[in-house]
Amino acid sequence: MYLTPEEEKMMAGEYGAAVEKSMEILVALGDIYNAEKLVDITSAQISGVSYKTIGDAGLEFLEDMALDAKVIVPSTLNPAGVDLERFDLGFSKEFTKKQLEIIEAYRKMDITTTCTCTPYLVGNVPVKGDHVAWSESSAVAYVNSVIGAKTNREGGPGALSAAICGKTAEYGFHLDENRKANLIVDVEDPIKGVDYGAIGYIVGKAVGDGVPYFKLKNRSTTNNLKSLGAALASSGAVALYHVENLTPEYKEALQGLAVSDLEKISIDRREINETKEKLSTASGKPDLICVGCPHASIEEIKNIATKVAGKQLKNELWVCTSIPVKATADRMGYTEIIEKAGGKMVCDTCMVVAPIEELGFKVIGVDSAKAANYVPSMCGLDVIFDDLQNLLDFETPET
Ligand code: F3S
Repeated sequence: MYLTPEEEKMMAGEYGAAVEKSMEILVALGDIYNAEKLVDITSAQISGVSYKTIGDAGLEFLEDMALDAKVIVPSTLNPAGVDLERFDLGFSKEFTKKQLEIIEAYRKMDITTTCTCTPYLVGNVPVKGDHVAWSESSAVAYVNSVIGAKTNREGGPGALSAAICGKTAEYGFHLDENRKANLIVDVEDPIKGVDYGAIGYIVGKAVGDGVPYFKLKNRSTTNNLKSLGAALASSGAVALYHVENLTPEYKEALQGLAVSDLEKISIDRREINETKEKLSTASGKPDLICVGCPHASIEEIKNIATKVAGKQLKNELWVCTSIPVKATADRMGYTEIIEKAGGKMVCDTCMVVAPIEELGFKVIGVDSAKAANYVPSMCGLDVIFDDLQNLLDFETPET
C-alpha cells in the first residue's frame, strides 16, 4: 500500500507509540482488503465499549492506548454496558466499576463519551461524500445510506486507529464503484412502524453484505430509515442501501448498470406479517419493554410519552437513548410523563449490550427487529417483537 512521507513517519513511530500501533492496524487492514492507499476521514464512531462485549482484555488494551493516544477527528462512542449516571437499574457494582474504567480510558483519548448508536442525532454528523470510520452496524448503514458519507463496517480497534491517525484504508464503500445496487426490492404495500424492521430483516437475510435498492409505496421518515438500516445490518451485513426518490445516492446507485439484469425480490403484506411473528419467541405481554434500538430520537420519545400519559404501567418500560436527547426530553416534559407512568429513561446503554440477563426478566418486548434478532442470542431471554402500543400493559383504573 502506498504511504505518503508523512504516513511513513507515523508508521516509524515519530509521533509516538499509539500512532505507530494505530498505523500498523490500518496498514494491515489495507493489505488484507487490497487498498492502494489511506484516505483522510472527518469523523469516527467507535464500538467496543461495553464491558460485556470487550471484557478485561479490551479494558487493558484501551488503558494501554490511553497512555499516549489522542484522537484527531471528532469521535463518539457506541453504547456502554450501563447507564453512566443512573445506578438504580440493578447492574452489579463490579460490572459498573469496570465499565466506568473503560469510559475513562476513552475520555483520556479525547473521545466524546456520548455513548450512543445514533451519533447522527447528537452532533456527529458528516456531510455527503465525507470519508468516515464508523463501527456500529446500524450507524454505518445510516451514515452511508441516509447521509451519503462513506465508511466500511469498521471493527472497534480499526475505528479507534482511524480516529487516532485521522485516516482509514481506502477500500470497500470508500470507492464509488462498490456503492452501486445489486438487488432491487419492490415492497408492494404501504408500510409503517415495525414493518420497516421486518422488511430489513427479510432483505438482510437475502442480500448478505450486498447493496439493496428499495422501491417503497410511501415516503419514509428518518426514524423509519434508522429502523430499516438496523435490521438490514443485523440479519445480514448490509452497510449501504438506497431508497428510490429519497436517499442521496439513489440515482448513482443504478447508473451504468443493466437494471434488467439485477436480481429482484418482491415483498408483500403477508410476508411482512409472517416475519413479525417469526421474530417473536414468546407471546402475551412482556415483563420488560425495551425501546430505543437504535437509540430513540426526540420524536420517538414524544410518541412514547403520548401513549403512556396519565396511565400506570404494569410491565417495566425502559426507553434507551443518548444523554443529549434525554436532556431535550427532560426540558420538553416527556421524561416526567414517562417516569410518572412507571417507565425509566435509560441513557448510554441498551437491551443488548447491557447485562440485562442478570436482572431476572424473562421476556423482553421490543419494537426493533435488530433487538428481536439479538436479545435471544446475546442475553438468552425470550422476546416479543411488536409495535409499542401492543406491548404496553396498563393497570385498570379503579372505578
Ligand atoms: Fe443500538 Fe443497542 Fe440497538 S447498540 S442499534 S440500541 S442493539
